[in-house]
Amino acid sequence: APVTAKVAFTVNGEKRSLTLDTRTTLLDALREHLKLTGSKKGCDHGQCGACTVIVEGRRINACLSLAVMHEGDAITTIEGLGSPERLHPLQAAFVKHDGYQCGYCTPGQICSAKAVLDEIKAGVPSHVSADLTAAPKVTEDELRERMSGNICRCGAYSNIIEAIAEVAGGRA
Ligand code: FES
Ligand code: FES
Repeated sequence: APVTAKVAFTVNGEKRSLTLDTRTTLLDALREHLKLTGSKKGCDHGQCGACTVIVEGRRINACLSLAVMHEGDAITTIEGLGSPERLHPLQAAFVKHDGYQCGYCTPGQICSAKAVLDEIKAGVPSHVSADLTAAPKVTEDELRERMSGNICRCGAYSNIIEAIAEVAGGRA
């Protein structure tokens, strides 16, 4: 018989508790148990980024993480970033710049981009640059590098980068 366990975490500001098969991924907990289907299952193997969510301020592939490991964590999904009535600035920029075609990768792209902007603000280094806190501009190369874990089968990359660059503002 499957082993179950209780887990309680905060999703988009709401406390949720679930009793789950301990093998349930965070992605399946969100999609199947909490009916938050914005986070997408592309590969289910950590290779596409469609399932990207923000946990305790850091982006992770929810398909690679067991839900029961997230006791007490604060989790943000695309549903928590914005709504059709109140788009997050990144969502508005993706619309403006046509940062998607089929849209399947988009929630993951936007959650990832949100974390990228926070990483840049916090001076977290990438392979492209050591420290951006003093840099006058965030380059497209920098954004491409930081967004490289998010695959888009439609190839909307240049529009995605334009959208993120716009939100990065004077720094992109
Ligand atoms: Fe998680 Fe592809 S579904 S990385
Ligand atoms: Fe279709 Fe990215 S918009 S996979």
